[in-house]
Amino acid sequence: MNRSVITIDDLTNDEIDRLFNLADRYVSDLGEHPHSHRLLGKLDVAKGKIASTLFFEPSTRTKFSFEAAMFRLGGDILQTVDPRTNSSSKGESLADMVRVVQSYADLVILRHPREGAARVAAEYVDVPVINAGDGSHEHPTQTLCDLYTLRRERKSLTGLNVLLCGDLKNGRTVHSLVYALARFGARIVTAPAKGLELPPHVSDRLQSEYHCVALTSKDIALPDDVDMVFVPLRDEKIRGLPDNVDVLYVTPNQPHKLALIPDFNLSVHFDTVTTAVKEIDVIYGTRLQTERLAGNSGTGDYPVIDKAFLDKRGYTNAQVLHPLPRVKELGYDLDKDPRGAYFKQTAYGVPVRMALLAALLQIEPVLETRGSETHYFRNYSCDDGLMCSNERCISRDENEGKHLKPKFWIVNPAQQSFLPEMPLTVRCMYCEYDYKPSAIGRKSSRQYNVETSLWDQIESEDLVVFCDFAQAQHQGYNLVDPSVLTSARG
Ligand code: CP
Repeated sequence: MNRSVITIDDLTNDEIDRLFNLADRYVSDLGEHPHSHRLLGKLDVAKGKIASTLFFEPSTRTKFSFEAAMFRLGGDILQTVDPRTNSSSKGESLADMVRVVQSYADLVILRHPREGAARVAAEYVDVPVINAGDGSHEHPTQTLCDLYTLRRERKSLTGLNVLLCGDLKNGRTVHSLVYALARFGARIVTAPAKGLELPPHVSDRLQSEYHCVALTSKDIALPDDVDMVFVPLRDEKIRGLPDNVDVLYVTPNQPHKLALIPDFNLSVHFDTVTTAVKEIDVIYGTRLQTERLAGNSGTGDYPVIDKAFLDKRGYTNAQVLHPLPRVKELGYDLDKDPRGAYFKQTAYGVPVRMALLAALLQIEPVLETRGSETHYFRNYSCDDGLMCSNERCISRDENEGKHLKPKFWIVNPAQQSFLPEMPLTVRCMYCEYDYKPSAIGRKSSRQYNVETSLWDQIESEDLVVFCDFAQAQHQGYNLVDPSVLTSARG
């Protein structure tokens, strides 16, 4: 079965390690220029293979480094230079276009302004799809370049203190990166431009699914520009547990549930957090994503990373990364400073993407043979009018909406007797936005209620989810008591 890489979670930590070992091997086999880190020469392992680069947004690094990677593997590239020169400008849907392109190429590399576009492409083709950036959602191969740079510069990701600056709301590189950092055990300190904080669906997910403890200035004194600190739970020694406890079962919605443990001492986190903020190992800057902003951005006090900033903070040995392009937020005075690692980061894109292409084209046995999707949530697919709440989602695109049916995961943990009941939360399968609908019902009895926490008492095939009660009523559903709804299968 072909694998695709749509989000960073489509690769396990072991697979990422193996990809990096393969990238190291390519660097060693080909050699690299000592200053630019450009690889030298080419292999012929991908002879006869073609990759297509479908880019509906501008790119220098991602497009060229994928194309260079394919050339250096000995394969070929089919490319769009300008989306206006392909048939999307005549109204062709993305789904149709990728179905056609798979007849010509063995792999599709897609960049698209709509969030979830790469997931749609992967659903329609049999060849591997690589997400080269979909709106503000994710940019998983940039994260591979970021992690590979850190591995070469810092040896290990575990325990690194990483400061993220800039537009954390719209920057897709940041969204893939934070999940990976959490998975590899790094601590994340966010210093966003005002109003451009990590979106709640990302920061909530770091806590509920990536086992991070999140602290803000409400919990602990933080520098003015720091918004949140995420510390992997594995860093913490759990104090206050009775001696006779052998096993601590951490629910998917930990760590808040630790508060249910009598005398649990949260202050254990504070030392780690204070250290994480003071002893920064990596500073990751991002530019203001003007292409995602409606109208005037109004961010006059955008954080600038330059020598003065590093010196003022005492970040003597910190590494500065940036996915580039830069605008005003990254000082040119760091270009020759040993702390500036961003041009190495772009150069490493070639061996990293060579490794990924070789893995997905099954030239090298790096990836497991399982499918790329390993989901543990119940799914919910609908024809009742529940739409994704994210207007930038591919499912909200007028053209793609003609063939796409909204699909969701129900992301609530299975109800546990000791957990408070939580309202239903659904996640769009394309763009991964979370949304709390305000009514649920039974198809069989055509009854509904606004008590959405009862969702798991209704059989999957009978459950219907509404944006709000008006939608339920419009569809002819009758309001009933919660007890009637949960018992009254029609
Ligand atoms: N980092 C990155 O995605 O750069 P490009 O937009 O130039 O591809």
